[in-house]
Amino acid sequence: MQVVTTIEEVRAARRQWAEVGFVPTMGFLHAGHLSLVQQAKAENGVSIASIFVNPTQFGPNEDFASYPRDTPRDLALLEAAGCDLVWMPSVEEIYPAGFSSYVEVEGVTAPLEGARRPGHFRGVATVVTKLFNVVQPTKAYFGQKDAQQTVVIRQFVRDLAMPVEVVIAPTIREADGLAMSSRNSYLNAEQRAAAPVLYRALTAAQTAYVAGQTDAEAIRQLMLETLAQEPLAQIDYVSIADPRSLQELTTIDQQGALVSLAVRIGKTRLIDNLVM
Ligand code: PAJ
Repeated sequence: MQVVTTIEEVRAARRQWAEVGFVPTMGFLHAGHLSLVQQAKAENGVSIASIFVNPTQFGPNEDFASYPRDTPRDLALLEAAGCDLVWMPSVEEIYPAGFSSYVEVEGVTAPLEGARRPGHFRGVATVVTKLFNVVQPTKAYFGQKDAQQTVVIRQFVRDLAMPVEVVIAPTIREADGLAMSSRNSYLNAEQRAAAPVLYRALTAAQTAYVAGQTDAEAIRQLMLETLAQEPLAQIDYVSIADPRSLQELTTIDQQGALVSLAVRIGKTRLIDNLVM
């Protein structure tokens, strides 16, 4: 496994391969990230991962400075997952002095995470565009865990005719249902024990829908009641939205629904979702 930092090194390595699967990450890797790397390797023969904690997607009061980092561990995990090349750019490599171009996606960035994290998706769209331009992947892999992010990426790839196939992979969970996340490391033991309430709220929604409930507000209420049973859970939002437009639904029809939520446990903000 080759480990590089500069754009020129990535371009030089890239020339030896016809097809490449790419997994952008912010590091502090877990089984969710590694499943993407394994899929990228299996489907393209070559897998490239990036590790870059992207400052432009964090708000001024968010956790950029404290975001967890462990490069030696990440590199060992990537090597074991069959990664061929890891790109770890510096902030200056991605955002050199004078940097002034951004990718702004309208519409699908407005609700949900976009409403609570102004500028977040501008940062994500800009960095993913730059990473794509350097790596020039055949296919790029993203997790369903960040549902709105997958919709945003699909939107600018289509709108700007980027020559890459976007692949979305299922959310990997802990045994108790908690979606794996680098931010789970912020939780103390008591908070960690409370965190599966997100998945319980999602499965309560799923169970009601499977039993025939199609009234979105009734399902939102059911989720809020489930979350209210956990005293450590401070609700940010629960949402039953159209899976393509991300607009809130009144009734769930044949198009299905993206059921998502954001919950604070202590200072840690957790998100999760299920598609019904
Ligand atoms: P990060 O949070 O490190 O996630 C990297 C990729 O792993 C994303 O596609 C994310 O959806 C996926 N992922 C995270 N947890 C997962 C889980 N439990 N199961 C499956 N996939 C999971 O998302 C980002 O970084 C950044 O926004 C990035 C796209 C790298 C741009 O900076």
